[in-house]
Amino acid sequence: MQHTHVTSPAGNALDPLATRLETRGPVVLPALLLCDFGHLGREVERLEEAGAGALHLDVMDGRFVPQLTYGMVVVEAVRRAARVPLEVHLMIEQPERTIADYARAGADILTVHVEGLADPLGTLEAIAALGPKAHLAVSPNTPIDRVLPFLDACDGVLVMSVEPGYGGQRFNPVALEKLAALAEIRRQRAGVFRLCVDGGISTDTIGPVAAAGAELIVAGSAVIRSPNYGHAITELEQLARDAA
Ligand code: DX5
Ligand code: ZN
Repeated sequence: MQHTHVTSPAGNALDPLATRLETRGPVVLPALLLCDFGHLGREVERLEEAGAGALHLDVMDGRFVPQLTYGMVVVEAVRRAARVPLEVHLMIEQPERTIADYARAGADILTVHVEGLADPLGTLEAIAALGPKAHLAVSPNTPIDRVLPFLDACDGVLVMSVEPGYGGQRFNPVALEKLAALAEIRRQRAGVFRLCVDGGISTDTIGPVAAAGAELIVAGSAVIRSPNYGHAITELEQLARDAA
């Protein structure tokens, strides 16, 4: 059966963030986790007006991680409200069972954790066949050796700089070594996967992650807890650009 994948109006179906990355450098993806869910449409609008190039949606099931957030109904609602590409970060058990639903709900990037997959290669290939970009996430305590066999099937690798589960945690510098190692492997292998980072990003940590090679940089509390989303995104992207 052919799935109807809703692509974002602003996105280029091949690589929704390529142009922005080339022209403006690293992209900050605000995470919605800490936003006001009573006014979700308004929050999406404010983030877009603030210059967000894409949005990051944290799906948690209360099993793979302790917290339970939201699922495809909310992803679909954000898709309807947003023009920018959406990254859906699945922190759930057996994500292979629901990737088709999240693709249909409008994910432009689907990110799955290597720790939660019985068949990482098969799952990445299944995501790509459904339409979204396939990103593989790796938690702070998981060595990058676990993702190396699958790099050719990844459109991106998401290095977690906090333990998945909660917003507002402290940045773990182990992410810097992992990003630098992945950047070097990508150079050696002439790979094409994007380097991404998620967790504890602030005005202090964004420079170092960009210098280590991160291109797609998730920022939750640094944007959502700021009184001015536009100021926060502009400042973070400027710091990333200066360090990259
Ligand atoms: C953590 C989530 C993150 C979180 C980031 O499990 O994957 O995306 O929202 O929030 P900050 O930037 O506050 O660490
Ligand atoms: Zn996330």
